[in-house]
Parts: sequence; C-alpha cells; structure tokens
Amino acid sequence: MLSAKSAEVVEATLPAVGAAIGDITSRFYDRLFAAHPDLLRDLFNRGNQANGTQRQALAGSIAAFASALLADPDQRPDAMLARIAHKHVSVGIADDQYQVVHEHLFAAIVEVLGEAVTPEVAAAWDEVYWLMANALMAVEARLRVEAAAGGDPADLWRPYTVVTRYQETETVTSYLVRPADGRPVPASRPGQYVSVRTELPDGAHQIRQYSLSGGADGALRFSVKREPGGEVSGHLHDHLATGDTVELAPPLGDVFLAEGDGPVLLASAGIGNTPMIAMLDHLATTGSTRQVVSVHGDRDQLSHAFRADLEQLTAKLPNATAHVFYEQPLGEWPAERTGLVDLSTVTVPAGTTAYLCGPLPFLRAVRGQLLEAGVPARDVHYEVFGPDLWLGV
Ligand SMILES: Cc1cc2nc3c(=O)[nH]c(=O)nc-3n(C[C@H](O)[C@H](O)[C@H](O)COP(=O)(O)OP(=O)(O)OC[C@H]3O[C@@H](n4cnc5c(N)ncnc54)[C@H](O)[C@@H]3O)c2cc1C
Ligand code: HEM
Repeated sequence: MLSAKSAEVVEATLPAVGAAIGDITSRFYDRLFAAHPDLLRDLFNRGNQANGTQRQALAGSIAAFASALLADPDQRPDAMLARIAHKHVSVGIADDQYQVVHEHLFAAIVEVLGEAVTPEVAAAWDEVYWLMANALMAVEARLRVEAAAGGDPADLWRPYTVVTRYQETETVTSYLVRPADGRPVPASRPGQYVSVRTELPDGAHQIRQYSLSGGADGALRFSVKREPGGEVSGHLHDHLATGDTVELAPPLGDVFLAEGDGPVLLASAGIGNTPMIAMLDHLATTGSTRQVVSVHGDRDQLSHAFRADLEQLTAKLPNATAHVFYEQPLGEWPAERTGLVDLSTVTVPAGTTAYLCGPLPFLRAVRGQLLEAGVPARDVHYEVFGPDLWLGV
C-alpha cells in the first residue's frame, strides 16, 4: 500500500519521471554494467540490451506499476508482476540483487532529474521501488518453491542430454532433451517456457527462453528458430547436436492453458506456434472433448513448422478445427485463407478462452478481432517472445 503522502508526491512527479524514464533506464543499465560487467555477460540478455527492448520494458513496468498504485493505492497489481517474476525466477535473480538495482537506479534518477529530486521526492519513489521489489520477491519465492527452482543458481540449472535433434523447417530445429542427472523431468504446464543457458565462443553465458513444444516419456521438447544475426539461436543450430549436454532452468511462465472444459482458441504466427503445439498435445493426450479452434499464420507451407503435428493433433481431438493462413501460399490454396490471419471467417464459440503468440502487429490485430467477436479482454491471454513492452497490445 502506498502512503497518502507518497501518493501525492508520486502523482505530482509522475509526468516528469515518465518523460525522463527512457533516459533514466539507459543510464541505470550503463551504471549497473559498468559496476558489474558479469551481469551483462552472464545474466542479462545482451541482444535485448543492444536493441533497447529490455530498457523499454523496465521503464514501462515501473511507470505502469506507479500508475496502478495511484489508481488504487490499496491494491498490489500482482497480475502485472507475474510475468516479470516468472522471468526473474527462470534466469535466477536473487533477493539481494534488488539492493544493487536500487543503488544504480536511484543514482540514475538523480543524474537525470538533478535538483528536482528533493529528499521528499526521493523518499516517495523509494517507497514505490520497494513496494514493487517486495511484491516481486514474494511472488518469486513462491514460484521457486513451486517450480523447485532452488534459491541457489547451482540448483536452478540442470544438465540435459539431447536425445533427438530434428529439423522442422529450413530455419526451425527441435531438440528433445532428457535430464542427464537421472532425476525425473520437472512438471510443466502447457504453454510454459524453459530458459536455456549457453556458453558462447567469447566465454559469456547467455540465457534465452524457449517455449516447450511438447515432450513425452520423461523428455522435454523445445524448438528454436534461427534468427538473422541471433547469437544464441545461431549457436544452438550450429553446435547443439544429439548426445550433447545443455543447461535448462525448470519450466516457468504465467501464460498456460487453464484446466476446464470451455472452448479454447489458439492463435499463432510463425514460430509463435510452439506453445500452441504444446497445448494441443496436452489436450490430445488427455483425451479432451473441449471445443478447440486453432488458427495459424505463416509465410508459406515450407516455412510452417509443426504443420504435420497440427494436422495430426487436430484429427485426434473430436471437437477441433484448424485454420491456416499463408501470405504467399505455394500451389493451390483457398483464397479466404490467403494473407494475414483474419478471424472474420472463423467461428469463435461463445465462452472462448483465447491464447495468442506471435509478433506484436499480429497480437494487436488478433486481439482486436477477438474483442470485436465478443470475447472479453480478460479471456484473451498472450505470450511475447521478447520483453513485454507494456504496450497494452
Ligand atoms: C517467453 C519466451 C518464449 C520464447 N519461445 C521461443 C520459441 O519457442 N522458439 C524460438 O525460436 N524463440 C523463442 N523465444 C525467443 C528466444 O528467447 C530468443 O529471443 C531468440 O532465439 C533470439 O535469440 P538470439 O540470441 O538468437 O538473438 P539475439 O542475439 O538475442 O538477437 C535478438 C534480436 O536483436 C537483434 N540485435 C542483436 N544485436 C543487436 C544490435 N547490436 N543492435 C540492434 N539489434 C540487435 C537481432 O538482430 C535479433 O533480431 C522466446 C522468448 C520468450 C521471452
Ligand atoms: C523492482 C525491480 C525490478 C523491476 C521493476 C524489474 C523489471 C523487469 C522487467 C519488466 C523485465 C522484463 C520481463 C519480460 O517481459 O520478459 C525484467 C527482466 C529481467 N530482469 Fe528485472 N526487474 C527488477 C529487478 C531486477 C533485479 C534485481 C535483477 C538482477 C540484477 C533483474 C534482472 C532481470 C533479468 C536478467 C531479466 C531478463 C530479461 C533480459 O535479460 O532480457 N531485475 N525485469
């Protein structure tokens, strides 16, 4: 709960802080990495630092948190913190690092806003920071227990052996992996991701997330699209072979298929279908009779990973349909399925819960179409394959 005094000061200074937050987060990361270069090498995603998305995500989350507190000072906006907490646990953030982040964040605030940061202003924003940090630490502690992630990084990362490597398309490779330490495979929910930690040629240990695309008999499967110029995806494609060992954190992620018997819509574009295939696989292996509508968009048949899985899993489900759109179909293809995903020709059953995954323009378009079709916003869940920029999709 934000105190009345701080709420007043935060409200008065939010426009100034909001306007400068991009600059503040840039300087914050510069300071943090100058003091702790190992954090950029071995913890933070340096691709997201280079392209600026993590800076935007941090800035956006603080601004969104402060605004939520002002709108309702007695409520802790836990839902918006869940995504961050899952990511933090998945990469191994420890509680004592919140003090380190605090030190460099507040030094950056003073550097950018100068004399405007009176002791009163500093105290009010300090309160916001610790409300957010304490809320995150509480959710993270619970998640570490649930996911058996352990507090120590040595307990987080487990070795897995690649039992099969399979080329899905020219640019997508699947890896079926089994724990190399003989312990059972960890529990996961359909839609969740694992973090993969890889040692790169310069000695850095970089972490990336990959949604589980299925799994069976004590094994997990994840699938990686080679991104142009992508450090880790390129490295995995070029070097991770059958019989090799790879380090994974336990499955985490706040977007997963909820149990129930209501209708489900799974919409994806490109490599965004990995969590959807895991959800379909779960529905098929549990003999679900739910109404399932799968919608997928891709460039063409050859770039469409899991095309056969989609067909086979849909066929196994008694109440499932699949609708595939290709921008540039090869050969004969129905005109109404040519182009970008368009839900106007797809029947969305009443009471549908929707799961979306794909690039931002796709998420925006499909979410808009679902709202138009009468699906309430609370029933539309989405996963993004990068930091959530809190754009409210
Ligand atoms: C929850 C979640 C689930 C995911 N699931 C999957 C999945 O199932 N399958 C999958 O393939 N991916 C998935 N991803 C994405 C994955 O984690 C990686 O982001 C992806 O593999 C790219 O990593 P990379 O190291 O190859 O690229 P990076 O080297 O990190 O580069 C990423 C992007 O940044 C750009 N970039 C890099 N350096 C610079 C620079 N200096 N200036 C400007 N731009 C730059 C690159 O060109 C590229 O477009 C998921 C991500 C999340 C968060
Ligand atoms: C109140 C304090 C903090 C806030 C508001 C915050 C916010 C965020 C946000 C918004 C994300 C992106 C989540 C997503 O959408 O994927 C993120 C990811 C991350 N955070 Fe934090 N964070 C905080 C504290 C910390 C601390 C203490 C550390 C440890 C030094 C840390 C390290 C990371 C890392 C490594 C990631 C993964 C993303 C990447 O590297 O691209 N954070 N955090």
